[in-house]
Amino acid sequence: MKTAFARVIENEKLYGDTYVTWFDAPQIAQGAVPGHFLMLRTTEHVTEDVATLPDDPLLPRPMSIHRIRERSGQLEWSILYDVVGRGTAWLASRRPGDRVLCWGPLGKGYSVRATSQQLLLVAGGIGVAPLVWLAEEAVRDGQSVTLVLGGRTSSQIFPTQQLPAEVEVIVTTEDGSLGQQGLATDTFMEHLEWCDQAFACGPNAMFRAMAGAMRNAKHRRPVQILLEERMGCGTAICYGCAVETRKGMKLVCKDGPRFDLRDVY
Ligand SMILES: Cc1cc2nc3c(=O)[nH]c(=O)nc-3n(C[C@H](O)[C@H](O)[C@H](O)COP(=O)(O)OP(=O)(O)OC[C@H]3O[C@@H](n4cnc5c(N)ncnc54)[C@H](O)[C@@H]3O)c2cc1C
Ligand code: FES
Repeated sequence: MKTAFARVIENEKLYGDTYVTWFDAPQIAQGAVPGHFLMLRTTEHVTEDVATLPDDPLLPRPMSIHRIRERSGQLEWSILYDVVGRGTAWLASRRPGDRVLCWGPLGKGYSVRATSQQLLLVAGGIGVAPLVWLAEEAVRDGQSVTLVLGGRTSSQIFPTQQLPAEVEVIVTTEDGSLGQQGLATDTFMEHLEWCDQAFACGPNAMFRAMAGAMRNAKHRRPVQILLEERMGCGTAICYGCAVETRKGMKLVCKDGPRFDLRDVY
C-alpha cells in the first residue's frame, strides 16, 4: 500500500449523476487488479503536509479502481462514482491540478483463472465501476466476456460505447427505459449455466436476490462479489467494516471486498 497526494488529471460527469475522475500517482495502482480499492480523504487543504490536513470530514471514502491507462509512459487510474453525499460531491467538484490524499491499492480483488474462457459479469448500478476494468483485462487475455448492466432506469447505465467492442453487453432496466425490462438478477440466472466464472458488484439487495435465485435453482457455482461497507480506515485498524460470514467475522477492507456470494448471503 502506498500513500500519495494524487493530482487530478481530468474530471467529468459521464452520465446521470455519475462522475469519472482520473489521477496520476501511479504508485497507488501499482500491482493492483480489478476489485482492488483505495481510500480518499475528501478534505479541503492548502498544503500537502498530512499533519495540517483538516479533520472534517474525518473519514476517508473508499472507491474501487475503475480503470487504468498509460499516457506518455505514465500509469494513470480513475474512479467512477455516484454523487450521494458530501464526500462524493467534493470529489465531483475537483479541477485538474487539484490534489487528493489517498492510499492504496487495498483489499483482495477479483481472482480470474487463466483457464476460464467464458466470464459472466453482473453490475448493479454503480457496481459497474470495477467491472469495466475486469472486462478490459479479460478481453486483453483472450477471454469471452458477457456483461449484464442493470439499473433502475436508463440514466444509471454506463455508456456501452466505452466498453471494448468484444464484450457482449446486456442492458436491463427496471422501468424498461433502456434494454430489457427487468432485473439484472434474472439475466444473470439465464447465463449462469454456461460461464466458467461469475463476478458481480452492486447493492446488497442485488446480492441477496442472486443468492436466493441460486438457492431456488439449486445452483452451487461460486460467484465472486465485491461487498460495500462503511469504512473508517481501509487498513484493518478501526474494525468498522466487520461483517459476519459463514467462515466467521471478516473485515471487508482486509479479507475482502471480494467474497464468495454463498459465504455472505
Ligand atoms: C470497497 C468499496 C468500494 C467502493 N467503490 C465505489 C465506487 O467505485 N463508486 C462509488 O460510487 N461508490 C463506491 N463505494 C461507496 C462509496 O464509498 C460511498 O458512496 C461514499 O463513501 C459516500 O461518501 P459521501 O460522503 O458522498 O456520502 P455520505 O454522506 O457519507 O453518505 C451518503 C450515503 O451513502 C451511503 N454510504 C456512505 N459510505 C458508504 C459505503 N462505504 N458503502 C456503502 N454505502 C455508503 C450512506 O449510508 C448514505 O446513505 C465503495 C465502497 C466500498 C466499501
Ligand atoms: S475499514 Fe477500518 S478495519 Fe476495515
